[in-house]
Amino acid sequence: MSRLDIRPFETTDLPAAAVLLAERHRAHRKRHPLLSPAYEDPQRALVEVTAIWESADASGAVLREGGEVTGYLLGAPKQSPVWGPNVWVEAAGHAVRTPEHIRDLYGAAAVKWVAEGRIAHYTLVPDDAELLDAWFRLAFGSQHAHAIQPVPATPIPPRAGVLVRRAVRADIPVLAELDLALPQHQGLSPVFAAGTLPSLQEAIDEWEEDFDDPVSATFVAESNGRVIGSATGTSIERGSTHSGLSQPDNAGFLGFAAVLPEARGLGAGRALGEAVLNWSAETGYDSVVTDWRVTNLLSSRAWPALGFAQTFHRLHRLIGH
Ligand SMILES: CC(C)(COP(=O)(O)OP(=O)(O)OC[C@H]1O[C@@H](n2cnc3c(N)ncnc32)[C@H](O)[C@@H]1OP(=O)(O)O)[C@@H](O)C(=O)NCCC(=O)NCCS
Repeated sequence: MSRLDIRPFETTDLPAAAVLLAERHRAHRKRHPLLSPAYEDPQRALVEVTAIWESADASGAVLREGGEVTGYLLGAPKQSPVWGPNVWVEAAGHAVRTPEHIRDLYGAAAVKWVAEGRIAHYTLVPDDAELLDAWFRLAFGSQHAHAIQPVPATPIPPRAGVLVRRAVRADIPVLAELDLALPQHQGLSPVFAAGTLPSLQEAIDEWEEDFDDPVSATFVAESNGRVIGSATGTSIERGSTHSGLSQPDNAGFLGFAAVLPEARGLGAGRALGEAVLNWSAETGYDSVVTDWRVTNLLSSRAWPALGFAQTFHRLHRLIGH
């Protein structure tokens, strides 16, 4: 039994939780100054914690030492069936003065989650080695990476052997094919990602509708006159994966990239990624964000090789075995 003073989270705990979250974010920004400074302010942090607390079926635990709140943990389910019977601890859903205490807080909070049948747990954790280690010793494993880099100070020069250009409407059939290539790859071992695969026609229809989106830029890579890959740059605000503390200010987003299977590993992905980095600089963004499944053996190697540094780890635990 825990010797710590832990009890269920209550509305009155919100201000103290916000102070802890702002502290955690301040430490996180020492490693990643491109993350938004806004959440170092407890008032802004409070908005984030309150949003989680007020979401449907939210619950959690709070820890006090000597009358002072020194840790909290809040989780809430997402409705999408993709995540299973789940609880998510978002970036603003936890902060502790002592990393080890996250284990006690989870021990208290998870009782209700599992009793409700919510056995798929997800948590977004800053790249703090001690905190990650504490989560790992709760049987969580790494599933997904959030990462960032500054825009290039000077344009990255084109690569020999691959021509990268802006996509035109005539590319829509191959863009649609490439749209399917990503979920097809991620359905395979060792990713085994769940998710629905659109039909080729659905992908074509979506491109026809969205092609002229002024916020986004799509690039294609050609080799020997044939399109072999594509990548899209857009605003970070378009990506639902990066919100709140994990959404830097004024950031571009490498939101999609795929190379046809037979052309992978030959430099097209790098050339496409670099085109999105250059476009982000030209557009006036300060940084570029992307994310990947850490079990994707291709993207998990390609994006760090292009200079992306991991900011958050999404960890996952499935209970019952
Ligand atoms: C991820 C993807 C777009 C990368 O494109 P690519 O053309 O295969 O990658 P590149 O050949 O340009 O390699 C880029 C970097 O990745 C690394 N890399 C590529 N293949 C690798 C391999 N088999 N082993 C280790 N590293 C590898 C290299 O470090 C390379 O950097 P370098 O130029 O310094 O050598 C492509 O593999 C792909 O479409 N994968 C399936 C769909 C997907 O995962 N999309 C991204 C979703 S986030």
